Amino acid sequence: MLRIAVLVSGGGSNLGAIIESIEKGDLNCSIEAVISDKDSAYALTRAREKNIPAFVVSKKEFGAESSNRILELIKDKVDLIVLAGYLSILNGEILRQFKNKIINIHPSLIPSFSGAGMYGIKVHEAVIKKGVRYSGCTVHFVNEEVDGGEILLQEVVQVLQEDDAATLQRRVLEKEHYILPKAIKLISEGKVTIKDGKTFLL
Ligand code: GAR
Repeated sequence: MLRIAVLVSGGGSNLGAIIESIEKGDLNCSIEAVISDKDSAYALTRAREKNIPAFVVSKKEFGAESSNRILELIKDKVDLIVLAGYLSILNGEILRQFKNKIINIHPSLIPSFSGAGMYGIKVHEAVIKKGVRYSGCTVHFVNEEVDGGEILLQEVVQVLQEDDAATLQRRVLEKEHYILPKAIKLISEGKVTIKDGKTFLL
């Protein structure tokens, strides 16, 4: 069974979608740890309610050592790291030891509206400001480049004339809750390969 760690920073609705998918029997994996960079994240409560080990690795406490602390917590215990609304940047050794074994969900159609400083509601604000007709979400692998790893799954959401950042965020989140568990499932079934900067699905 695929063992995963889920990294979070906020509400954890994506974590909730993964838990639900496991409980329904759609996803054959076990969440070994939930790790947050903020002790106030509601995602931690969601984890504890389900008796999933929950940890806080805050910048305040660990600073530049945060990624190494996370690696220490999960080394040899998990097969895949899932960034589900995790708003810090991983760096250093964890990226080498978990090469092609870290995925992230981003709330836009990468490469649009992505990269450093583009996260959470800021993405949807930028989308509304630009007036694009379509947005969406992306699951991608994580490497040294922020939001730059191979794209695994994307879903499109139409931007409506009456949308503001909050209404768009809600509709994009619905799609996130669909593609993130789906991406984990594809990986758990060995159906994803990476070649020449792209992913291929079996
Ligand atoms: C989600 O929309 C996720 O895509 C985004 O943060 C939100 C977390 O929601 N992540 C990023 O912006 C990463 N660049 P959640 O805590 O309810 O899952």
